[in-house]
Amino acid sequence: MNSFNTPLAEVDPEIHGLIKKEYDRVIGTVQLIASENFPSRAVMEATGGPLQHKYAEGFPYLRRKKMDGIREWDRDGRYYEGNVIMDQIERLAIERAQKLFGTEYACVQLFSGAPANECIYHAFLEFGDHAMAMDLANGGHLSHGSPVNFSGQRYNFMPYGVVEETGIIDYDQLARDAKEHQPKMIVAGATAYPRIVDFQKFREISDSVGALLLVDMAHFAGLVAGKAHPTPVGYADVISTTTHKTLRGPRGALILADEERGKAIDRAVFPGIQAGPHLNEIAAKAVCFHQCMQPEFQQYAADVVKNAQFFGDEMMVQGFKLVSDGTDTHLILVDLRDRKYSGNKAAKALIKAGICTNRNMVPGDERPPMQTSGIRLGSPFMTSLGFGEDEFREVARWIKRILDDIKNDDEIENVKNEVSELCASYPHPDFLL
Ligand SMILES: Cc1ncc(COP(=O)(O)O)c(C=O)c1O
Repeated sequence: MNSFNTPLAEVDPEIHGLIKKEYDRVIGTVQLIASENFPSRAVMEATGGPLQHKYAEGFPYLRRKKMDGIREWDRDGRYYEGNVIMDQIERLAIERAQKLFGTEYACVQLFSGAPANECIYHAFLEFGDHAMAMDLANGGHLSHGSPVNFSGQRYNFMPYGVVEETGIIDYDQLARDAKEHQPKMIVAGATAYPRIVDFQKFREISDSVGALLLVDMAHFAGLVAGKAHPTPVGYADVISTTTHKTLRGPRGALILADEERGKAIDRAVFPGIQAGPHLNEIAAKAVCFHQCMQPEFQQYAADVVKNAQFFGDEMMVQGFKLVSDGTDTHLILVDLRDRKYSGNKAAKALIKAGICTNRNMVPGDERPPMQTSGIRLGSPFMTSLGFGEDEFREVARWIKRILDDIKNDDEIENVKNEVSELCASYPHPDFLL
């Protein structure tokens, strides 16, 4: 029998070996999935640290009250004893999130992005209520009303999309459809939209029909935190975000709102949808928010956008067509409809050379989601590992070499060797095992 102190490598060499292999894959190849990032050692230490044991159902306060703009924490609101320290951790995470984004209320208990949206719908909608969100094929997320997801099955979502020629949200059509559909909620924010969302327009359209405006900033929250993107605060009624994408924190999510709506959100999170919060992840979120407040993070966010824009320009130089002809953010969407193969085939060829992307639908796509006519590329991960313009130029050239001759295995092998050589020359982040 192993003792509590026996290291993982001895207790379970199989899983330990696979973790090491995955780490080698990640740092030995190029990661371009726009929703992924490499968290700091500090975030990983907090996530993996000894905070996994505690049940802390409830919140680190009994009532939300505010005096002169500063929260006064009252009695504890937990259902289990022994949470004095956990309360301090969750309060710190809440205060840091509120400070980072400038909101009155933050809930840090959300397990992930889709459950965060579920909690918001649960707080403000009845089953069958009308809502509107970006169409999946135009860049929306499953939890924004897809028919195969709880959101589309419980609520009556009408999708809106982009103008196919420009790739920009069709705000005029959205305004007309909102008048007809009379949504109780409009969701802005997407999973594959390279441009800045016009929050002012969404506010006006929402006001014109009396709808609540939810901004799901899962993709660009880190850019907002790092002041490289406009903030939805001041426009949105409620904001959701994951913490593991551009924010570079642990897996999880966050909801922001004003004090009044926060009460309904708290009730929806617990006891409505979730039960015991994951305090290890909440501690890691606190670390993440602390890191986001440092000047280095602003530099990181600026670099993420600069690298994505440079990368997009280089892709166009290499003959690729981009949806909306570029990006304002961290992601670019490559439209491959002028090629003979699908986005799926392209992504499969690229991964053979160690370039990790994902297939993605493009506006007007006639291929199904498992095939698609595009690929999505992002800069956050490799910017975290130190890539700059020279490296992204090289990556654009590698992508051209592979996708111009997609069946040429010799060329894929040549690129793979060059990828390994470049990745090996980068300083590797600390690994805890
Ligand atoms: C806009 C948006 N919302 C929500 C989610 C869901 O997040 P999770 O996978 O953590 O549930 C994603 C994930 O990619 C997303 O892009």
